[in-house]
Amino acid sequence: MIREETKEITEIVLKAAKKARRETRDLPDPEPELTRPVNWPITCTVGPGLEGAIACESRIGFVNGTKGALIYRGYDIFDLAAGSTYEEICYLLLHGRLPTMKRLNRFKKTLAAHRATPRTLSLLMNVMRDGTSAMGALRMGTNLMRQEFTNADLDKFRPDIGMEIGTDEDSIGMETHPVGEEHAIYEFMRKEKRGGGRDISSTEVSNMESCYHLIAGVSTLAAAIARIRSGRMPIDPDPELSHASNYLYMLTGKRPTPVQERVMDISLILHADHGINASTFASLVVASTLADMYFSVGSGIAALHGPLHGGANERVVKMLRKIGGPDDVKSWLRKKLKTKQRIMGFGHRVYKAYDPRARILGPLAAYLVKGNKEMRPLIATALELEKQVIARIGKKKGIFPNVDFFSGVVYSCLGIPEDMFTPTFAVSRVAGWTARVIEYLENNRIFRPRAHYVGPLDRQFVTIDKRGRKRK
Ligand code: CMC
Repeated sequence: MIREETKEITEIVLKAAKKARRETRDLPDPEPELTRPVNWPITCTVGPGLEGAIACESRIGFVNGTKGALIYRGYDIFDLAAGSTYEEICYLLLHGRLPTMKRLNRFKKTLAAHRATPRTLSLLMNVMRDGTSAMGALRMGTNLMRQEFTNADLDKFRPDIGMEIGTDEDSIGMETHPVGEEHAIYEFMRKEKRGGGRDISSTEVSNMESCYHLIAGVSTLAAAIARIRSGRMPIDPDPELSHASNYLYMLTGKRPTPVQERVMDISLILHADHGINASTFASLVVASTLADMYFSVGSGIAALHGPLHGGANERVVKMLRKIGGPDDVKSWLRKKLKTKQRIMGFGHRVYKAYDPRARILGPLAAYLVKGNKEMRPLIATALELEKQVIARIGKKKGIFPNVDFFSGVVYSCLGIPEDMFTPTFAVSRVAGWTARVIEYLENNRIFRPRAHYVGPLDRQFVTIDKRGRKRK
């Protein structure tokens, strides 16, 4: 629904969509096999870090790296950013379809009911110390949230070791060739067939209610962490506000303007899901052991923290400040490329074209800095850097701005402090992590890649008293 007060923002997104479609229309689509059902086992070429490996089938989202396109449940990200809200996106990712107004209102009420996390916050305030990083606190808080919702009763969902789940990584015969579905079924084989008792179901482990709890609660935690870290008291959520608006309100203490709310909302939509990236993979790995959703999301937060993943946005803003101004870009970039250093906010494992999320966030950042004197020089530097990186290595190596290049400037203009950029990314990504965990557990198979052992095989053991002696 297009609102009059935020019409200008919608127009910016629509313009970015038009430009992207014009520029990518004629690009070939060399990966049609990635959008077809899989017959396990499959053959794929795998690089270090599992690059190219296919871990599962998914209906949640697709990243077309060659065209620079992103799809959630069949819908183009540009259409979703222009016309939907983060709440609609969470519903879409979790349930597979866009909600009707009635369903959306019910979903919003559920989120509102889960947004306040008083027990977690009082526990977190006791354990946060000077120097606790925001992401560290968020990861810890996610785990503390387990108790809030379930009164520590989640253990009843945990498998009875040795009976419920008959296989763990060390008891599965380590096959050299993956055998696919046969084993996957074994991991959820009805327990009666293995000795009776209650069957563990993936739904119990994943539990949709804990997804809602996490989506709503992680935003409250992130906002509270920002305040506690700066010596202020957390602010209670307002049930009348949207998810985006509540986040900014709980963080800054001020109710955002319709434009600020809409930009936050779009940013949440753009960060909600992105294939099996490192943090989503971490969540899936943990979930595949049948640890619960809180542990899974906690591990996603831990992985997102790294500077090669979600931590890049904070570094981009620091980098832009360090460069100085647009006139300094040329010499700065020359030095960086000469010493083979990576430019933060550029490049992507999957996109070898312009990241569609950056196509939207770039113009939004440029729009927002008009009202922010302090950030104006940064965007000028960013735009010059973008131009020069693309000219020097863009086309040759497929290096273009990624989502993190402009998100920091957008967040700063919304009043989000730099150390909260990555937690803000996490606030949004909870939707993707939880949706993908639920989907993965439908056909769970515990993750267990192997390493190629390249060490020696036949060294002679020497007891400690004889080590270090020279052989005669
Ligand atoms: N600046 C300069 N050169 C780069 C960059 C960069 N940011 N990224 C890749 N390259 C070069 C790289 O040096 C290599 O050159 P050569 O072939 O001459 O050795 C070539 O491009 C291919 O690099 P790669 O190592 O195959 O790329 P990758 O897929 O392993 O890396 C990446 C992906 C995101 C880790 C990397 O691009 C990077 O470190 N970027 C900077 C950090 C960053 O912005 N991260 C945010 C990622 S987007 C948010 C998210 O999804 O988490």
